[in-house]
Amino acid sequence: MNVRALTSQDIPLVSAWIVTIPLWQRYGLTAEKLNHQLTIALAHEILLTIDAEEPAVGLAWCIPRGGFGRSAYLKMLGVRPDHSGKKIGALLLEHLETLITSTDLFLLASDFNTDAHRFYQRQGYQQIGAIPDYVLPGVTERIFRKQVRSSPQ
Ligand SMILES: CC(C)(COP(=O)(O)OP(=O)(O)OC[C@H]1O[C@@H](n2cnc3c(N)ncnc32)[C@H](O)[C@@H]1OP(=O)(O)O)[C@@H](O)C(=O)NCCC(=O)NCCS
Repeated sequence: MNVRALTSQDIPLVSAWIVTIPLWQRYGLTAEKLNHQLTIALAHEILLTIDAEEPAVGLAWCIPRGGFGRSAYLKMLGVRPDHSGKKIGALLLEHLETLITSTDLFLLASDFNTDAHRFYQRQGYQQIGAIPDYVLPGVTERIFRKQVRSSPQ
């Protein structure tokens, strides 16, 4: 399995499977919106993908100072559904942690996404807060944090 930078050629491929994931359907994400957002993000944000028998079956999207203007913020982590449970998410996240220069990595996870809570806890993330009704009415976003290193790089 090969973790690498996402390229513009990967974007339509990744968008096509991301929008089949029920989590992001609930948030109203469309392939068109994601294509546009990823194309803009390519310039300044960290976008990783992974090839595992087939190309671009995972996505990690990180905004380097997206956490309080100070720390890295993981905006999206996804694995193509027919490849989930094979440690692809863990590989992407671990690779991303080596690339960020801040001490901490933050992310939000929906309250109903209990599989993802377990995944992040196993990867060393701790819930440090929660924001009710932030993105979707009736859904609380749990804030997770990992201190990746003790001083910035
Ligand atoms: C969460 C996710 C990135 C993990 O990647 P992965 O390669 O499947 O994960 P790993 O093989 O490294 O670890 C397996 C763990 O991932 C989690 N997981 C597996 N399938 C999942 C799914 N459909 N949704 C959420 N979490 C899932 C579980 O905690 C699982 O652990 P378990 O065996 O104890 O149930 C991936 O499953 C996914 O894309 N899920 C849907 C989108 C999502 O929830 N993204 C996170 C948003 S905050």
